[in-house]
Amino acid sequence: MKKKLLFLSFISVGLLGFIIGALAIEPIVPAKELNLAQVELGKKLYFDPRLSKSGFISCNSCHNLSLGGTDNLKTSIGHNWQQGPINAPTVLNSSMNIAQFWDGRAADLKAQAGGPIENPGEMASTHALAINVLESIPQYIAEFKQVFGKNKIDIDQVTQAIAEFEKTLVTPNSRFDQWLLGDKDVLSVDETAGYQLFQNSGCQACHNGPAMGGTSFQKMGVVEAYDTKNPSEGLVAVTGKDTDRFRFKVPTLRNVELTYPYFHDGEAETLTEAVDVMGRLQLARNFTPEENAKIVAFLKTLTGDQPTFVLPILPPSTDSTPKPKPFE
Ligand code: HEC
Ligand code: HEC
Repeated sequence: MKKKLLFLSFISVGLLGFIIGALAIEPIVPAKELNLAQVELGKKLYFDPRLSKSGFISCNSCHNLSLGGTDNLKTSIGHNWQQGPINAPTVLNSSMNIAQFWDGRAADLKAQAGGPIENPGEMASTHALAINVLESIPQYIAEFKQVFGKNKIDIDQVTQAIAEFEKTLVTPNSRFDQWLLGDKDVLSVDETAGYQLFQNSGCQACHNGPAMGGTSFQKMGVVEAYDTKNPSEGLVAVTGKDTDRFRFKVPTLRNVELTYPYFHDGEAETLTEAVDVMGRLQLARNFTPEENAKIVAFLKTLTGDQPTFVLPILPPSTDSTPKPKPFE
């Protein structure tokens, strides 16, 4: 009996250790083991608007790498100026997500990348048309052949290359990471106090891991319901389980100063508002304006080195390239 108890307590200590371990925030490390040829090709494709029907919308239109990997709009603008249904999450550090999209319906970056090209409300092309465009351009044919060793371009290669490029979009070296790695002078008194409030209030229960998010799906509105006109219901769309209603992938807090507006419906315009809502709805905490300001100051230390590279110059279309249709 005693032995059994001892065994059980070992297990629970182990479990506790595991839980605390899982909740830890780790510094961001630069991407490793990348296929550099795929990265270069993927970078071109990421910026190439010819993957859209209009010839005008690229991945970078909505995930603008000059704007923290997002569009800073409540919801995105798609083909023909269509109003998007949901806020565009950042692509920065998205390789660290357990799954992609607010409801997790794509398993990984490669599975995700094919979606927007043929989504009628986004790029509004088809995979067949996108391949026709690429195969009409000799430089693309040559580069795909060099990278994948095949004579034909297919959508699998396109999404593979884009996903490999996206893995480079990580943002190490934020002031908070420098602090985590031991440089304790790098945060101000208020910023450090903000981190303490963040930890002690329980924000880390959901915003953890290197990206401080992206590790789980959690209910929006734990202690108080979230009031929104947005019809999205989160994970239930994927699992069909009623308990998954309003459970959304916890967004990353990395670079959150750059990725406004906030929440899946884009309704929170400022960090002050987002922190206030999180405190009340997730943790039953009413932060004073001073506490809120400290947490916001802390969140602004999470901005890391943004990806830098030479803007890719895209190979020109040819006489046989299918023409863009911006107004259909
Ligand atoms: C018209 C705007 C638009 C375009 C163009 C677009 N996206 Fe998105 N992207 C979104 C929106 C909106 C979402 C969130 C959709 C959802 O969760 O239901 C999203 C989600 C994502 C995510 C998931 C991030 C996360 O944290 O879950 C990734 C990665 C991504 N897009 C990459 C791309 C790539 C690569 C391309 C180009 C092939 C692209 N996007 C084109 C608007 C766009
Ligand atoms: C129970 C889990 C949970 C807790 C605890 C929690 N969050 Fe969140 N957080 C979420 C989820 C889920 C979302 C996305 C909600 C949505 O979009 O509808 C979110 C979104 C956010 C956003 C907006 C990010 C974006 O890009 O849209 C910020 C900022 C944020 N949380 C900060 C905090 C802070 C600060 C705390 C502590 C006071 C906290 N969160 C506590 C789950 C949690």
